Amino acid sequence: MEITKILFLIFSLTLLIFSTLLHPSLSELCNPNDKKVLLQIKQAFNDPYVLTSWKPGTDCCTDWYCVTCDDKTHRINSLTVITGSLAGQIPPQVGDLPYLETLELHKQPELVGPIPQAITKLKNLKYLRLTWNNLSGTVPDFLSQLNNLVFLELSFNNLSGQIPASLSKLPLLNSLRLDRNKLTGPIPNSFGEFRGNNFYLVLSHNQLSGKLPASLGKKDFNYIDLSRNKLEGDASPLFGANKTAQIVDLSRNMLEFDLSKVEFPKSLVSLDLNHNRITGSLPVGLTALDNLQGFNVSYNRLCGKIPVGGKLQSFDSTAYFHNRCLCGAPLESCK
Ligand SMILES: *[C@@H]1O[C@H](CO)[C@@H](O)[C@H](O)[C@H]1NC(C)=O
Ligand SMILES: *[C@@H]1O[C@H](CO)[C@@H](O)[C@H](O)[C@H]1NC(C)=O
Ligand SMILES: *[C@@H]1O[C@H](CO)[C@@H](O)[C@H](O)[C@H]1NC(C)=O
Ligand SMILES: *[C@@H]1O[C@H](CO)[C@@H](O)[C@H](O)[C@H]1NC(C)=O
Repeated sequence: MEITKILFLIFSLTLLIFSTLLHPSLSELCNPNDKKVLLQIKQAFNDPYVLTSWKPGTDCCTDWYCVTCDDKTHRINSLTVITGSLAGQIPPQVGDLPYLETLELHKQPELVGPIPQAITKLKNLKYLRLTWNNLSGTVPDFLSQLNNLVFLELSFNNLSGQIPASLSKLPLLNSLRLDRNKLTGPIPNSFGEFRGNNFYLVLSHNQLSGKLPASLGKKDFNYIDLSRNKLEGDASPLFGANKTAQIVDLSRNMLEFDLSKVEFPKSLVSLDLNHNRITGSLPVGLTALDNLQGFNVSYNRLCGKIPVGGKLQSFDSTAYFHNRCLCGAPLESCK
């Protein structure tokens, strides 16, 4: 009789201990420092609707939207707000989430002001995406201190000034997008020295000027879009039979070089050179590009017969029109 009672007691106690462990408020995963910082960030943004789930009495790892915790350390590793109502400046407290690997604030039209220097404290940051906001000021030089950055995307903002040359020092950077801002000045010479493979570089829709640095030829860009700037000079170093580029868009610039001797990588899927000052003729090598799906050399100063073969005749005349004297299909036959 006594033994059954004792066993029952042990059983009940075990149950109690287990249910206590599983109860969220008594076994919170969220790190208290991270929680404090996140609540400060919420307050700095004036308690926006999108952060309603961030409440002091709940677990930031299990109950809060827009953040995730690392499985092992339970520290906040990602802060991602992709549409919404964040207004004002990015508060310096974002720098106090030391385990953050992803910081993404996207489509916040009322997010203004500069990128805060406190971001340099985020030594684990791999993915920084501050896009489609209204951030102003420069692309800060201090971003080059974020040694673990793989993706840096600041597209669709109101950023001005020159592109800092130091970004090429980021050892793991693989993707740089600064398109659709108000950036001026040249593309830094150092941009031929990015170390990441299959590099993705998008600087389109800015006011970049000056000569395209020849050093860019040292790098094999997988995807390069420099369109809609005021770039001058020679783009031929970007090409070469050895390269593995797939997408090259240099359209709507003031590039001036002879296309006749340029060798194109076999990997090219899309080549857009429209609206430049490119001279010479179309090289026969273009007919060997089997993957070509997009091609446009219109509005240049090209001359001579369009080579026959490959994909070249699959594009309509608008891919070739407005040149000095290009002829042959799909344009009118040569005289
Ligand atoms: C930036 O602000 C302007 C003026 O308030 C607004 O018209 C524009 O849509 C905003 N930009 C973005 C990318 O949301
Ligand atoms: C864009 O930046 C300029 C200064 O460079 C500023 O005058 C303007 O108000 C900013 N626009 C928006 C929508 O923030
Ligand atoms: C192309 O590759 C070959 C062999 O890998 C190398 O010798 C040559 O210098 C390269 N040419 C260019 C233009 O990079
Ligand atoms: C080529 O670019 C010109 C100028 O932007 C455009 O009018 C034309 O439709 C384009 N053609 C093709 C085939 O992409």
